[in-house]
Amino acid sequence: MINLLSPSKNYLGKNCIEYLNAELSGNRFRRCLIITDSFLVKSPTYKRVLKVLSNNTIGYKTYDQTMPNPTVQCVDKAYSLISANDCDFLISIGGGSAHDLAKAVGIKATSKGNIRDYAGVDKIPNEILPLICINTTSGTGSEVTRFTIITDTKEQKKMSIIDNKLIPWISINDTDSLMTMPKGLTGATGMDALTHAIEAYLSTDSNTLTDTYALKAIDLINKNLITAYRDGSNIAARENMAKAQFMAGIAFSNASLGYVHAIAHQLGGLYNLPHGVCNAVLLPIVLEQLGSRLEGEELGDIANAMGISVFQKKNKYICPRVILRILDMNKKLNIPTNLTELGVKKEDISKICTMALNDACRLTSPIQFTYEELVYMLNQGLKEKRI
Ligand SMILES: NC(=O)c1ccc[n+]([C@@H]2O[C@H](COP(=O)([O-])OP(=O)(O)OC[C@H]3O[C@@H](n4cnc5c(N)ncnc54)[C@H](O)[C@@H]3O)[C@@H](O)[C@H]2O)c1
Ligand SMILES: [Fe+2]
Repeated sequence: MINLLSPSKNYLGKNCIEYLNAELSGNRFRRCLIITDSFLVKSPTYKRVLKVLSNNTIGYKTYDQTMPNPTVQCVDKAYSLISANDCDFLISIGGGSAHDLAKAVGIKATSKGNIRDYAGVDKIPNEILPLICINTTSGTGSEVTRFTIITDTKEQKKMSIIDNKLIPWISINDTDSLMTMPKGLTGATGMDALTHAIEAYLSTDSNTLTDTYALKAIDLINKNLITAYRDGSNIAARENMAKAQFMAGIAFSNASLGYVHAIAHQLGGLYNLPHGVCNAVLLPIVLEQLGSRLEGEELGDIANAMGISVFQKKNKYICPRVILRILDMNKKLNIPTNLTELGVKKEDISKICTMALNDACRLTSPIQFTYEELVYMLNQGLKEKRI
């Protein structure tokens, strides 16, 4: 049996934010907590959301201090606004950081306690507050997933909270909100989406539906990411990237991920690095180890979706060509070529590997690595200048 989970409503395309007028009509809600950041609170997207709220006579309070890689402290601050302002639903405007923060606030609003209590899989007792995610990056897929990633600065790590109750009520990918993404953000979030699709495809929990979404996402990213990076005003490339990251999000929300994310979360927590960049650098490093040990032809399918001409589909033969393509994309996107360039310190590798083994995202990797194998992998990643 397959049960493919996604938000109840998903709107994608130019001006689709306007559909919120119909969704919010009928006096269902009193007051909203908007979660965004100090840049996006000045954006036309924010103004359009206020207009929709005003059209429907819904009040609001705004938390505009979301930081990239949101922290436990951030969750507590934003949560304090819920009861103080009697808010009964949430709207997040931003990328993965705003959506993840809103999900964590939504947990605390109905289940109380410390957000750390909910790290892991299926630990949330109550439904979260209804959440509308207006997405402005392409992307983490957080606007459709059952994940939230919160940084615990005390422990210097990112916690993965995974639960079906975290799936937002409505996702909005309005192309107009995506056009302002700068190059660095376009490249990093695009490689995050590619990693979601590849890890979901290789996951032990994948199924025909998640595989179909994952392969189509890889195809669209292969055809559109570099164009969107080079020419941010290209509407077709932006819209295709929005579709790709959406499909990759649905794929990994249902099939989960693997070691790239399990390790990337530790790098993000330790060094406060952009999530997508960590994934982009780690993806070839992890794939190299998977490709040499994974029987079958999964990487042949991924190569096909990347437009690589495939004569021999077996993983061990095709893996180097998939890696070469990813390294080439990273180079075109000005992403660091190895872990040293990324800022990873040799003395931290032991801690990173111990914590990665505790990250729930690794559980669905098709190969399970030992601590020693992980240490070897990351040491290789430090040393090699890979292209
Ligand atoms: N919950 C999930 O399923 C999931 C999946 C992957 C990643 N994540 C998390 O998402 C976070 C990363 O999110 P992200 O990569 O989307 O970036 P982000 O949300 O951290 O945003 C990064 C910066 O980009 C700016 N920005 C966002 N949209 C913009 C736009 N349209 N134009 C100009 N600037 C814009 C923001 O103001 C911010 O300063 C990480 O914390 C990561 O762990 C969550
Ligand atoms: Fe990710």
